[in-house]
Order: sequence, then C-alpha cells, then structure tokens
Amino acid sequence: MTRKFHIVGNWKMNQSLNDIKGFFSELGSELNNLSCEAWLSPQTLHLTTVNELAKGQGKVLVGAQNCSHKNSGAFTGDTSSLSIKDAGLHFTLIGHSERRSIFNESNEILNEKTKLALENGLTTIFCVGETLEERESGNVESVISTQLEKGLKDLGSEIQDKMILAYEPVWAIGTGKVASPEQAEEVHAFIRKYLSEQTSFIADKMIILYGGSVKPSNVDGLLTQPNIDGALVGGASLKAADFKNLCIAASK
Ligand code: PGA
Repeated sequence: MTRKFHIVGNWKMNQSLNDIKGFFSELGSELNNLSCEAWLSPQTLHLTTVNELAKGQGKVLVGAQNCSHKNSGAFTGDTSSLSIKDAGLHFTLIGHSERRSIFNESNEILNEKTKLALENGLTTIFCVGETLEERESGNVESVISTQLEKGLKDLGSEIQDKMILAYEPVWAIGTGKVASPEQAEEVHAFIRKYLSEQTSFIADKMIILYGGSVKPSNVDGLLTQPNIDGALVGGASLKAADFKNLCIAASK
C-alpha cells in the first residue's frame, strides 16, 4: 500500500510574527510542485496568521500543537479543538513528549483530547516515544504499547483517515541525537504490528512519522525505511530553506 510522505514542522514556542513573514516569503511557491504533504504547527496565537499566509502560499496546511480535552467552559488558558477547527485549521498534535513531561498530561487525558479532536473533524497526530532510561532498561515496546493502548482507547477504523501517529524517542528530541534509521524502523514496524494485532485500524494504511533531530542531512536514511512515512520536525522546520529541503527529500 502506498502511503503519502508527510513533513510536519513543529515550531514549538518559537517564531515572532516577523520571523513568520520572513519564513513564508523565503518559502515561495517551489513547494507547490512537490508530491509530499507539507504541514506547519505554530504557537496557538499565530495559528490564524500562519493559516492565511499558508493559503497565499498554496500548499502548506496548518495545525495546532495541542488542544483541550473539552469543547468549551471554565478552562482558563486552554484552546478547544472545536475552536481550532472553527478557525479553519487542519490538524492538531496530541501527546507530544513536552506535553507529557512538562505539563504532566496523562494517557487518559490524551485519549479524551484525541477523541474530541477527531469528533470535531481535526486530523490528529498522536505522538508516542520512550525516554533514554526506558530504552536502556529494555522497555521500548512496553512503553509504546501502553501509550497506544491508553491513548487510542475506543478509537478504530472509522476515524482512520484522520489519524496519524508519530514516533518520537524523547532522547532524540532537540538533542541532535537522531535515532538511526534501523532504530527508528524497528519501532515503526513494531507500531504497525501492534495496530494490526491489537486495534481495528488498517495498519498498512496508517501514516507513521518519525520525530527527533530530523534535518535535511539525515532525512533520506529515515525515509527509505519501509515503515517510516515522513517526519515531525522541530528545530530544522524553523528555517524555510531546511523545511523546503525536507519536503524535497520527501517527494523523491
Ligand atoms: P526536534 O524536535 O526536531 O527539534 O528534535 C522534534 C519534535 O519535538 O517534534
């Protein structure tokens, strides 16, 4: 089954409005001829601005880095997936390791967020990944299966077209220590096997992204692995030239 390559830039809490304008003017229209999906995820405050710039650019789709587990109400500081969808955005990340570790988001709350975001019609990129300690103690598969089991609870093939997974080993995020293509492939293959054995998703159809220190110089080795369908990219997505080169690599 052919799965389309996706390059998703996670800008985290970076980029001023000026940086963003500069990014889009440098990006230009060259991306429009590429076959991969090119997505960007700015800070909440910048979502609609980036979405307007992206519409002008013509190819890039825009989404949020996080969303609430509720649609509305007394949740000071939160942003609902309902409003993200209503504002014309395409997707949301859920369960990024920074949300899990810094903001203490549990598998249970991530499951609520995921169900609601999908119900509201947002494509959802659900992130999983182990820490270095968990890897060194031989627990990669049990950590990933628990995150999938609890995070994707009650979800099945009916929402498959809006569901994307991202494997991001915590030790590779922002550290410059990218997983080797073999290390990443091993976990991606495990995730696909888990999906086929334990869920009603069509495992072969699921887009599974790798994330953690991806840059133009290491992306080729990752994308040639059979179970890696693209990349979730932090640092290297902040520069238009790098983002463009990642998209070129994903369109070969
Ligand atoms: P990085 O971040 O590419 O800077 O390692 C990836 C991510 O956190 O999604």
